[in-house]
Amino acid sequence: MLTPSEIKARLRDAAAGVERYLAACLADRGIPARLRASMEYSLNAGGKRVRPVLCLTTAGLFGLPAERVMPFAVAIEMIHTYSLIHDDLPAMDDDDLRRGKPSNHKMFDEATAILAGDGLLTDAFDFMAGVGAGVGVNSGDKCRGTGNGNAAIPAANVLAALRVVARAAGAPGMVGGQALDMEYTGRAGVTLDEMAAMHAMKTGALLRASCLSGALLAGADADAQARIADYGAHIGAAFQIVDDILDEVGDEAEIGKPVGSDAEQGKTTYPSLLGIERSRALARERADAAIERLSPYTGPDADFLRSLASYIVDRAS
Ligand code: IPE
Ligand code: IPE
Ligand code: MG
Ligand code: MG
Ligand code: MG
Repeated sequence: MLTPSEIKARLRDAAAGVERYLAACLADRGIPARLRASMEYSLNAGGKRVRPVLCLTTAGLFGLPAERVMPFAVAIEMIHTYSLIHDDLPAMDDDDLRRGKPSNHKMFDEATAILAGDGLLTDAFDFMAGVGAGVGVNSGDKCRGTGNGNAAIPAANVLAALRVVARAAGAPGMVGGQALDMEYTGRAGVTLDEMAAMHAMKTGALLRASCLSGALLAGADADAQARIADYGAHIGAAFQIVDDILDEVGDEAEIGKPVGSDAEQGKTTYPSLLGIERSRALARERADAAIERLSPYTGPDADFLRSLASYIVDRAS
């Protein structure tokens, strides 16, 4: 197991590769200037980059090098970033701070924020499909040199990974979870089971897909797919429990978003139902279950995945 500072360093290193790719990936696509500025504003505002790093690491675990997966991993970060832009809109959580900066609709305007989200979501599918064609993420092509060259990933693997991400991001996954979140906001009597199911959709699904898609791109076998999917679902559950905890007791400067937003909005959260300590214990249980599913695997990628599960519980941001 890595020490907390080793985990942070490795996450930072892995995230730095994603940052480099992200910085140029919207260039030369013919995106109107203001829309592109809005998309890049949120994409390049920081963020932990946990989802792309998970995808790169599970691909690496099964022998597929990061540079060939990068556009796919970056696409997952684009989908995640779109979800954050829309999540902050006045019609949803109405939050003015994101990744330590004014939310997209505050920096630009609501229409631009909606369209930036639409653009990030849709363009992500171009990037994901591209790894099956062995092309860079745009024809210009600022990203090709930093990325996947011409080494196409087998189309069947890409299709499988793409379907997993689409379903996780879509109405049966994240979008559906966000719809339930809206439905439950301000409603008394939301149960633990309802909330857990909503969490699994709004946050767990994309984290699970981030992990599973890497394994699928690398052609992992059925047993490995099941283990990695379970790992992802468990860390996804832990991730949202801790997100809810940090919304109550986090430091605004550190989390880069408003503290107390959930209570203000009337959200049912793990801490609101169970208190902080029991919530933390539950997150720890889910991280341990995630780690247990990785038991057959050794080596630096497996160690990093185990350590990331713990980091998700212990994180302060
Ligand atoms: C926040 O996700 C939204 C949730 C799904 C809980 P992250 O905590 O990964 O946010 P960034 O990407 O680091 O900003
Ligand atoms: C968001 O959950 C889940 C998403 C799909 C964006 P939250 O609403 O708790 O996320 P934050 O706290 O605003 O990042
Ligand atoms: Mg929300
Ligand atoms: Mg929110
Ligand atoms: Mg939150």
